[in-house]
Amino acid sequence: MYNVAIVGATGAVGEEFLRVLEEYDFPIKKLVPLASARSVGKEVEFRGESLKVKELTCDVFKEEEIDIAFFSAGGSVSAKFAPCAVEAGAVVIDNTSHFRMDPDVPLVVPEVNPDDIALWNKKGIIANPNCSTIQMVISLAPLHREFNIKRVDVATYQAVSGAGKKGMEELFEQMRAIFNFKLDKKVEEREVFQYQIALNVIPHIDKFMDGGWSREELKMVNETNKIMHSKIKVAATCVRVPVLRSHSEAISIYCEKPVNVERAREVLANFQDVKVIDNPEKNEYPMPIIATDTDYVYVGRIRKDLYDDNVLHFFNVADQLRVGAATNAVRIGLKWIE
Ligand code: HSE
Repeated sequence: MYNVAIVGATGAVGEEFLRVLEEYDFPIKKLVPLASARSVGKEVEFRGESLKVKELTCDVFKEEEIDIAFFSAGGSVSAKFAPCAVEAGAVVIDNTSHFRMDPDVPLVVPEVNPDDIALWNKKGIIANPNCSTIQMVISLAPLHREFNIKRVDVATYQAVSGAGKKGMEELFEQMRAIFNFKLDKKVEEREVFQYQIALNVIPHIDKFMDGGWSREELKMVNETNKIMHSKIKVAATCVRVPVLRSHSEAISIYCEKPVNVERAREVLANFQDVKVIDNPEKNEYPMPIIATDTDYVYVGRIRKDLYDDNVLHFFNVADQLRVGAATNAVRIGLKWIE
């Protein structure tokens, strides 16, 4: 049994951590919810009990004898406090981007590269990939084994939960304002997104880097290849859409071998945590309302390219807060204690 800390326990991902740890029956002796000073004293629910949130300090990990610390409070918090947790003897499972590309830190999707946990863990920190990367590599891995992928083009449709609780609240507020007889007006109040997100799509997530690529898009390029130990060429267009908590992705793969739709369905359906929903005759395909609150990556709309035998197109959907964050991290934790 382990003493477990949740850093960022009052955020959208932190709250999901509590639910997933409970559902997966994680062997917990003591759970310590941690957050910044302004959230101290708030209560969170775990296994039918109310637990008071404690202040995140460097010493708290030693004081509470923490064995495993799940971090989900932003990169700067991980940079400052993850070393304290490691120093106190805990393993850190970090949901931020801070350590992801560090060569001594494994970046893990347990369905794809579980062995990296033991091979690369030189710092006592295991990184959880970006949500859009996790659901993409879970669907790419079986197809890569079968057809040897050389290049991926992906367009994402990312839910507001990716921007945290405040992003979700901003969508609700704007929807309320719009339905409150302001349908013809622009919603001016916004804090999280660059533009109104209700009734809109925004082709911009995170900051722009060199060449017009966004940081979110470059995460998909770099993280995919670190996880898959590959040199797949990835081009991503990441888009924010007014969906609450499931990300969708339209993906095209360019392979070394000719592709086959039936075989693609088969290898995907046999892969852990993938569910294929793909029946055009019955209008059956994945959608956020199907994936939300589940731990599967749903794949459908699988079709061969009209011109090139080596190219396959498909669509996937997964719950960003679970598959893309808390569930993946908890599964890393379960592998680590195995
Ligand atoms: N960066 C992602 C998003 C969140 O903004 O949707 C991934 O955890």
